[in-house]
Amino acid sequence: TDGVAANGSAFSFVEVEAGVDETHHVAEGYDAEVLLRWGDPLFPDSPAFDPKNQTAEAQRRQFGYNNDYVGFIPLGGSSAHGLLVVNHEYTNEHLMFPGIVSVTDGKLKVAPADKTRVDIEMAAHGGTIVEIRKVDGKWQVVREGKLNRRITSTTPMQVTGPAAGSDRLKTAEDPTGTKVLGTLNNCAGGVTPWGTYVMAEENFHGYFLGKLPEGHKEAANYKRYGVPEGAYEWGNIYPRFDLAKEPNEPNRFGWIVEVDVNDPNSVPKKRTALGRFKHEGAESIVAKDGRVVFYLGDDERFDYVYKFVTAGTFNPNDRAANMDLLDSGTLYVAKFDADGALEWMPLVFGQGPLTAANGFASQADVLIETRRAADLLGATKMDRPEDVQPNGVNGKVYVMLTNNTRRKDEQVDAANPRAKNAFGHIIEIAEADGDFAATKGKWEVLLKCGDPSVASVGASFSTDTTRNGWFGMPDNCAVDSAGRLWVSTDGNSPKDTGRTDGLWAVDTEGGARATSKLFFRVPVGAELCGPLFTPDDRTAFVAVQHPGDGGTDWAPFGRPSYYEDLSTRWPDFKNDMPVRPAVVVITKKDGGVIGS
Ligand code: FEO
Ligand code: CA
Ligand code: CA
Ligand code: CA
Repeated sequence: TDGVAANGSAFSFVEVEAGVDETHHVAEGYDAEVLLRWGDPLFPDSPAFDPKNQTAEAQRRQFGYNNDYVGFIPLGGSSAHGLLVVNHEYTNEHLMFPGIVSVTDGKLKVAPADKTRVDIEMAAHGGTIVEIRKVDGKWQVVREGKLNRRITSTTPMQVTGPAAGSDRLKTAEDPTGTKVLGTLNNCAGGVTPWGTYVMAEENFHGYFLGKLPEGHKEAANYKRYGVPEGAYEWGNIYPRFDLAKEPNEPNRFGWIVEVDVNDPNSVPKKRTALGRFKHEGAESIVAKDGRVVFYLGDDERFDYVYKFVTAGTFNPNDRAANMDLLDSGTLYVAKFDADGALEWMPLVFGQGPLTAANGFASQADVLIETRRAADLLGATKMDRPEDVQPNGVNGKVYVMLTNNTRRKDEQVDAANPRAKNAFGHIIEIAEADGDFAATKGKWEVLLKCGDPSVASVGASFSTDTTRNGWFGMPDNCAVDSAGRLWVSTDGNSPKDTGRTDGLWAVDTEGGARATSKLFFRVPVGAELCGPLFTPDDRTAFVAVQHPGDGGTDWAPFGRPSYYEDLSTRWPDFKNDMPVRPAVVVITKKDGGVIGS
């Protein structure tokens, strides 16, 4: 039965007990079933998942690794039939491949990657588009779906917008600077009002290794983005990921990618007008005058919140008329003033400091070095901006700021009010006159996260929030059709918080404001991505990412020690199966609205 809504809360479900174990938990009265796991077949001819005999060819026909963003594009306006679009952000080699890990002096060591492994990793990145359908109350994957598609790190893509064809994007393989192979590290994302799938390239720096030639002109640019990090070994196999061999390739990543899901052969487009940074997500809303506004986070300590406003207007009656809206418009970066005023500052070549005197020769240069342009404008340095979500019901915008333990006392400001911010916070924006395209607005802190029972944390959950209801590290969020806010987290660990990550329902209105309740929690080692509601609010999708991962709690695939400590074999719980990231579908047992 439903709980009693306290203090005018918009949520009446009985919350889940916070804690840690090997599986997922959802509120009483709900079902939470695994819909798609890493390796699951997506096409009639897909090979079955065989973890000990993986191939890139098989992976290209199967659901990819580390599901992050989840979007739902209804077919025929239905909430029971549509396309699920899912980002596959990155790969965890130590959890994917048997027999590659050894332990020396108590430290894990992963064997160097050969070409076979690199090719599988590259195929496990990208995105999935797959038809799903609710039959007798239960969601199913439609493998015969004509629009099903896998996008990977080698899918041919076109560069569009002001930076297309820039000399700085030209490479040996692509002298035009307009054709890129693949997309990397797609974190959150979005679905546009015209029904395309938007992927956000986040930590692209990890895929590059090697050294730029001495005195190379991109040195300062790459330093600002942390290129190269060398987290992957792809550059040992494919020269384009080695800076010594292909110095311009990193300029071809860090963009927003738009995919036309209605044609499985369409060429995805890297929309450079939306800037180049560690794009977290790209949630959008139609403004009063029909222009479309995309909210964009740049997930790095001391980086910025952006928005993009299209020049053209959305045409709800002609899908084709909207297909290049993302190529022209204005990119803005946010300045959060101490008095609660918000200013959106345009990143336009020739305006203010964005001129030749500062090394910008064109709008292409401003976009390729978006961060440096924003530095020059004096934007507010934030505590890792992740998902930014407009709410069409209450007219506000919610900014997830996940944490920033490097902020020093002297760097504290009104919008980032805690030094050594371990648990993050959420800012609520009200755009001027309720106009999402406005260049001014107001802001306030909705919530300072962390354990409210520990005074030194300085959390600001309402006193109606229980010991299960608080959370740290907000990452993704969703707004359901009633305008209610749902927040998923990344980084609540058993050691620090006695709880795993999960999905929390957060009140934003009236006396219940800043009350939070735990609705779903993940198995040990995982973070929670997604979340996404169907238009009828009767289904919620969540993405359980990297289950079983986690430092010293970790035990490798294929070893008898796997079940020791806090580890898990979620979701299969079979000895011959690795842990698998998976999308979980949540419905209410009585078929009703989620969270009501
Ligand atoms: Fe991929 Fe910022 O999380
Ligand atoms: Ca994220
Ligand atoms: Ca979101
Ligand atoms: Ca994350």
